[in-house]
Amino acid sequence: MAESSDSLVVASRPAPAAGGSTTAGFVPPACLADFAELARVVLPAEVWDFVAGGSGTESTLAANRAALDRVAVLPRVLTGVDRPRTDAALPGGTYALPVAVAPMAYQKLLHPDGEPALAAAARAAGVPYVTSTLSSTPIEEIAAAGGPIWFQLYWLRDRGLVADLLARAHAAGCTALMVTVDVPVLGRRLRDVRNGFALPPHVTAANLPAGRDDLAHQGTPGVSAVAVHTGAVFAPALSWADLAWLRERTPLPLLVKGVLDPRDAVRAAEVGADAVVVSNHGGRQFDGAPASVAVLPDVVAAVGERCAVLLDSGIRSGTDVLRALALGATGVLVGRPLLWALAAGGQAGAEAALTLLAAELRDALTLTGCADPAAARHLRTRTGG
Ligand SMILES: Cc1cc2nc3c(=O)[nH]c(=O)nc-3n(C[C@H](O)[C@H](O)[C@H](O)COP(=O)(O)O)c2cc1C
Repeated sequence: MAESSDSLVVASRPAPAAGGSTTAGFVPPACLADFAELARVVLPAEVWDFVAGGSGTESTLAANRAALDRVAVLPRVLTGVDRPRTDAALPGGTYALPVAVAPMAYQKLLHPDGEPALAAAARAAGVPYVTSTLSSTPIEEIAAAGGPIWFQLYWLRDRGLVADLLARAHAAGCTALMVTVDVPVLGRRLRDVRNGFALPPHVTAANLPAGRDDLAHQGTPGVSAVAVHTGAVFAPALSWADLAWLRERTPLPLLVKGVLDPRDAVRAAEVGADAVVVSNHGGRQFDGAPASVAVLPDVVAAVGERCAVLLDSGIRSGTDVLRALALGATGVLVGRPLLWALAAGGQAGAEAALTLLAAELRDALTLTGCADPAAARHLRTRTGG
């Protein structure tokens, strides 16, 4: 598994000739999406499935990619752009890219260095790292990696624990709060059910009180232990009143993640959200939801003047980032490719992935005649080729 990843990758990938591009000795693949194949060879099959999989028939997972591929962007020519800027304003600050690392649980499944390694890579790239409630490293240790850290909240049944997590996130110096609202229960992820997937003993929900994640470790054939655990600890019946409660309790920028219907985006803005994240959780929650990029224009039309609109689910390249910007997004979250890079090369792998993404975005901006991400938001698009 992950311990053997460095040697495997190095063994299978010769170092480039002098002048080739490396990050701390890691030889990057040709494009961000190629990290998937590097990870697949080093990860146990059930961990690969946990990360790569979606819910149900995985129709929403597939739709995310297909819909992004259908977004064609009309390049502008003769704009005199040489080397575009990539920095962009996101909630809470200006960052090197219009990109944040999506919140993703249990990163020690991918590599023993886990969350601190990916957070350090984000810091090196100048982008925010969103740390999950279900991180396998405590918030405080991740924050010690430095760099801008945002805290992602899963609403737990025990409201005292929610208040405690908020206090810890504030004390640790998190600069934004992202509440995820599309997990009243975990989606039915059939790969995990078929694999009887359970967390290995060394991977724990490190922010929760000791022993609260026993259920996630109990492997039973035909049962996803992760789903059983979240069913026991997540609050299923959140409402707008809970969001208002949260808004009152934090001065930090508040992002609401998992919005698809423009009416919900409007409601979130009314409650005081600084941003909505248009997301179907990477196809892992309601299988049957639309591709998030397909509803992005409607959400931008509904709330784009009032709050930031971020997009995730299926972003695999700098061109995809540009597509999202052209459809009106303020920025994007990137998920699985960064876990795959972490699996393939630890912090160096993740740094290489973010460096590659920055280069891909710069190329996409240059090729479409844009001086910066703000200019990309004025590009025209056609859907369907
Ligand atoms: C392994 C894994 C774990 C995830 N854990 C969380 C989480 O703890 N909190 C959350 O809000 N979203 C979580 N997500 C969803 C991501 O934040 C994001 O919405 C999704 O991965 C974006 O799609 P992409 O992977 O295609 O880029 C997780 C996704 C994956 C793949």
